Amino acid sequence: DRQPIIAIDGPAGAGKSTVARQVAAKLGLVFLDTGAMYRALTWLVLQKGIPMDDECAIAELANSCSIRLTPSEDLKSPVRVWINDNDVTTKIRTAEVTSKVSAIAAQSAVRQALVKQQQRWGKEGGLVAEGRDIGTQVFPDAEVKIFLTATVSERARRRQQDYKKQGQPEVSLEELEASIKERDGQDSTRLVSPLMKAADAIEVVSDGLTIDEVTTGIVNLYKQCL
Ligand code: C5P
Repeated sequence: DRQPIIAIDGPAGAGKSTVARQVAAKLGLVFLDTGAMYRALTWLVLQKGIPMDDECAIAELANSCSIRLTPSEDLKSPVRVWINDNDVTTKIRTAEVTSKVSAIAAQSAVRQALVKQQQRWGKEGGLVAEGRDIGTQVFPDAEVKIFLTATVSERARRRQQDYKKQGQPEVSLEELEASIKERDGQDSTRLVSPLMKAADAIEVVSDGLTIDEVTTGIVNLYKQCL
């Protein structure tokens, strides 16, 4: 007997985090950004100088590290993320971590460790979880499942604006499209829990929709299932 769960999956840059955060705030649910966990582990692997293909060492790290997520002060900022008491909130959003995270997330021992943690946090329900495998693996019995996508060009455009707002160096749309395509490719073709729409998920293509429109749609779906 648990509270309902909303699962939001989809490719990089579809707006999952922003939407999930707003849905959680509107409904008074906890927001779980699972990508932040894979990013934090990737940061730690890089920091320790462990080679990306040393699956044993990475597995050990995944099972022994302690990841903590806490809500940010406002709806606009990402969650605050700690790994082993390092505040990595901004460090996990660098281009370096972003380019390496898919290789770490493809390792089955890593997924086992992080999924177990996510399921422990979600045991009582009452949360909006966002990632790649939430509706398929982490919470397959979630009451509301959304597969949120947008075209590659639209996602690249949004990423470029995000970087601009964060004061990060300008990246061309071509480069952003290439890196989004590469990450989509890696995430959807990996052997363990590839990015995939769950059979019972509702697909939302967010091109031409505002964040508020997508948020309201999901909030209404949730209310219907109460
Ligand atoms: O969502 P975000 O871009 O922060 O996710 C970073 C990476 O973490 C993804 O590209 C994917 O490789 C991995 N990931 C995953 N499963 C999840 C969430 C993220 O494999 N549930």
